[in-house]
Amino acid sequence: MFRRKVSLPASDASPLPSHIAIIMDGNGRWAERRGLPRTAGHRAGLESTRRVIKESVRLGIKYLTLYTFSTENWKRPAAEVEFIMSLPGEFWRRERPALEEANVRLKVLGDINGLPLATRHVVEEAVAATQNASGLTVSLALNYGGRAEIVRAARLFMERYGIMGNEVDFATGLYTAELPDPELLIRPGGERRISNFLLWQLAYTELFFVDKLWPDFDGNDLVRVIEEYRGRSVRRGGL
Ligand code: FPP
Repeated sequence: MFRRKVSLPASDASPLPSHIAIIMDGNGRWAERRGLPRTAGHRAGLESTRRVIKESVRLGIKYLTLYTFSTENWKRPAAEVEFIMSLPGEFWRRERPALEEANVRLKVLGDINGLPLATRHVVEEAVAATQNASGLTVSLALNYGGRAEIVRAARLFMERYGIMGNEVDFATGLYTAELPDPELLIRPGGERRISNFLLWQLAYTELFFVDKLWPDFDGNDLVRVIEEYRGRSVRRGGL
């Protein structure tokens, strides 16, 4: 059956968001519902990530920030953690040509010193290799926690500005210092929580909770959420 591609109508009144953040949730449940190991869900989740990056490039989104591994995720069974930690390397080795072709810049948010050495090296390699790309910036939040980020920023703030600094000064100490705040947060997987993601940066962000699990989320779902976001911003503008 031919499924029509959802397309975005052009509109000056409701521009595309420049920065979309996503909490990629539901991989484990996706696998369990199929009687598969949770790692199969993470692998399927990686495919969703690839599709959503591709669609973001097509749409001309400037920044995509993906919650890939939180500071709380270390509590999972060691084998699952190890599997997730192998995915950045797998992703980079497999997708490098496509990422370079699409002019994608990779960035990492979080404490990379806490990552297994092999994971840290591969993400550092990917970040260095793509640093001059001028298309979509994909930021992977890895060993990331919002509160830990704020504490780190507070230390930098005191060193750099003392007690006289302002909010703009504070934000220079966040991992996202060079990124605009996201206009849009998407959380698939049915939960309605922020889960310690981008606590500072989400202050004015529109939140979209989607029941689909991350491995079932595709480019058309992304387009639908963006259309709803544009509808919300038109309504706000009309008030
Ligand atoms: C949350 O689902 C998902 C994770 C903790 C892993 C996220 C990793 C990916 C989506 C792969 C992408 C990786 C790269 C390198 C881009 P969950 O396991 O909490 O699902 P559940 O809530 O159903 O248990």
